[in-house]
Amino acid sequence: MEVAASAGGGGAKTPDEIIAKHCNACHGSGLLGAPKIGDTAAWKERADHQGGLDGILAKAITGINAMPPKGTCADCSDDDLKGAIQKMSGLK
Ligand code: HEC
Repeated sequence: MEVAASAGGGGAKTPDEIIAKHCNACHGSGLLGAPKIGDTAAWKERADHQGGLDGILAKAITGINAMPPKGTCADCSDDDLKGAIQKMSGLK
């Protein structure tokens, strides 16, 4: 049984929805040098250089080079972005 999860419509988004809507455009194909979805080694290398998942999350929030702030998901919370990053990267 799920515990009162999706009630209320507070704009809750799943990682899959965020990725499909916002991240896949670049990270699906590696456009502009973006690390590809599922290419854990590429994501891990970035994370290793930036203090882990929270380090690359911080860059995703501010933007980095061709990566726009919040990956164009302006109404994503930090947790929303983190979930999407975990899903794309396979990192925990
Ligand atoms: C317009 C294309 C584009 C979109 C849309 C986009 N990204 Fe990116 N992303 C990039 C590129 C390009 C890089 C590599 C930037 C660099 O290192 O030069 C990147 C890098 C990243 C990184 C690694 C940052 C680092 O510190 O190395 C994270 C995390 C990330 N993106 C998350 C996301 C998330 C989450 C979304 C969706 C909400 C998203 N991106 C949407 C282009 C995009």
